[in-house]
Amino acid sequence: MYFTFRRTELAIAYCDSLAGNGIANATSGLFLAAPRRVGKSTFLLNDLIPEAKKRGWTTIYIDLWVNINANPADIIAEAIKNKILELDSKFTKIARKIGLDKINVMGTFVLNFSSPGLPENITLTDALRILYEIADAPILLIIDEAQQALINEKAMSAMFAIKSARDQLNSQSAKTALMLAFTGSNRDKLAHLVLKKSHPFFGSDVTSFPLLNKNYTDAFTHWVNNNLAPDNQFSEESMYQAFKLVGHRPEILRQIAGKIALSGEASNFAELLKKDALTWQNRVWEEYENDFNTLSPLQKIILQVLIKKEQSWLPFSEESMQTYSQLTGQEDISTATVQTAIQSLRERGLLWQSGRGTYALEDESFAEWYKLRSMKNEMSL
Ligand SMILES: Nc1ncnc2c1ncn2[C@@H]1O[C@H](COP(=O)(O)OP(=O)(O)OP(=O)(O)O)[C@@H](O)[C@H]1O
Ligand SMILES: [Mg+2]
Repeated sequence: MYFTFRRTELAIAYCDSLAGNGIANATSGLFLAAPRRVGKSTFLLNDLIPEAKKRGWTTIYIDLWVNINANPADIIAEAIKNKILELDSKFTKIARKIGLDKINVMGTFVLNFSSPGLPENITLTDALRILYEIADAPILLIIDEAQQALINEKAMSAMFAIKSARDQLNSQSAKTALMLAFTGSNRDKLAHLVLKKSHPFFGSDVTSFPLLNKNYTDAFTHWVNNNLAPDNQFSEESMYQAFKLVGHRPEILRQIAGKIALSGEASNFAELLKKDALTWQNRVWEEYENDFNTLSPLQKIILQVLIKKEQSWLPFSEESMQTYSQLTGQEDISTATVQTAIQSLRERGLLWQSGRGTYALEDESFAEWYKLRSMKNEMSL
């Protein structure tokens, strides 16, 4: 069994703000962004859901990465259907009472009942309303990797349907009836759900999901040390330093610490931890460097401009086109050339495009690497 650090206080704070009782108000939705592999899903499943259940909330957890080939809209509809079925006995009673025989949610599933009186198609919004009635309790809908919902219009419509259910349900009841928590491993992508008027959750904020910190590494150090000889102990400080070097990723720390513990080189844990963590970081950065070096000058410049401009980057605006020309020294760059370069960046897994034509870096740490690299280059000039 792996050591898992519980984050109960954080879960309590989030539940309070979701319900509108906290210092921060998240009744319109909680949007949490943090890099890959830092423990988002673990937190949702191990801490947030148990806390919500403790409060008597009905919880639905949806991971949009569970099947990247499926349409996110179908995954969401399926999860809500399953929840409805889970509470089936109660639902059947209500459905009969209001004369429903069969419901069809977003054209993806049909629930049948024996009583007559067929409804027309029921939307995702209706399904959530029905779920709320059956559950007879506040609902917490959690969507992990929510940025995946930006990939096409059908998925985006599902997000609008959820928003609409939130507005309808919350305006009808004194308490917050439908609470929404979304996480994403890319802040810029997640922002495409909230930034503009045309986005489903316009007006909400993306906040940073706090990374595991020293209280985690302290607890982990104690846990590891318990299994080691008294003269083979990790120090809290060296563990924390290594953790920072690997970008606050518990898995990597676990691997490095495990390897050192097994190697029996007890004398110099601190040094070894640091060395291994640095090696790991270098390996990741070397990969970025290699990827970057294979790009054409225009592709490099497109990435550079995107990193600088972030969400305000418009790839084909006059200003952008001028910048490309200036930086490449080529005067006659056409929109088609830029389009080809962008397409190739997407195919290489460096650039991500939403269904609506907005862009973000596929991997956010790439920006961090790039900025550091530019700083180094400037210093060496
Ligand atoms: N609180 C924790 N205590 C110990 N280990 C943890 C904790 N949270 C996460 N981990 C470990 O870190 C790794 C990544 O966790 P998790 O899958 O939750 O991260 P994530 O941010 O959701 O990743 P992804 O970006 O791939 O979705 C897992 O191996 C998990 O066991
Ligand atoms: Mg995850």
